[in-house]
Amino acid sequence: MQRLGILLSGRGSNFLAIAEAIRTGRLAGAEIAVVVSNLPAAAGIEAARGLDLPAVAIPSAGRKRAEHDAEVVASLRRHRVDLVCLAGYMRILSPEFVRAFPNRILNIHPSLLPAFPGLDAQSQALEYGAKVAGCTVHFVDEEMDHGAIVLQSVVPVLDEDSVETLSARILEQEHIAYPEAIARVLSGEFHLSGRRYIHRGRQT
Ligand code: GAR
Repeated sequence: MQRLGILLSGRGSNFLAIAEAIRTGRLAGAEIAVVVSNLPAAAGIEAARGLDLPAVAIPSAGRKRAEHDAEVVASLRRHRVDLVCLAGYMRILSPEFVRAFPNRILNIHPSLLPAFPGLDAQSQALEYGAKVAGCTVHFVDEEMDHGAIVLQSVVPVLDEDSVETLSARILEQEHIAYPEAIARVLSGEFHLSGRRYIHRGRQT
């Protein structure tokens, strides 16, 4: 079994999609070792407890980033985590954190990177007038929303879209893409060529 550490700050729908993919066998050979939130009130933490998963709140408010990250890394190590999955974790990781899990941290971002990194990616896409949007699962490196791309899903932007309707269309794809990307990475059947993630026998 490969052990996932999920980091979140909010409602945790991507975390729940991962948990469901494990339950139904779409994400085989993996288990959730721990769910960590920097916000103790995050709904995702409650949801984790509801599923009887180890759930830890490590508050970031008022703490130095390096100090907080060291505590998170220690918790992930204690739970013998193989792959860290950021699922709506609204914090930038310190270089020390990234180096603690080389090519072992994934993030999902609600845009087709490198377009619209940072906060409010969906409203950025709408305001820019993009005709397609989507989500990206990528390895985390020391720059924000930047590491090698594992998988992207595209959705149309419709004339009548609001931020809410576009976000919902993207989120539906996130819930499919993230478990799929995790399964691919855990299979180990890939290599990185510069920034390019090349998966054996796959074109998309
Ligand atoms: C998701 O849309 C995720 O892509 C986004 O936050 C949301 C979390 O929702 N992440 C980022 O914007 C990271 N830069 P969730 O808590 O329901 O999974």
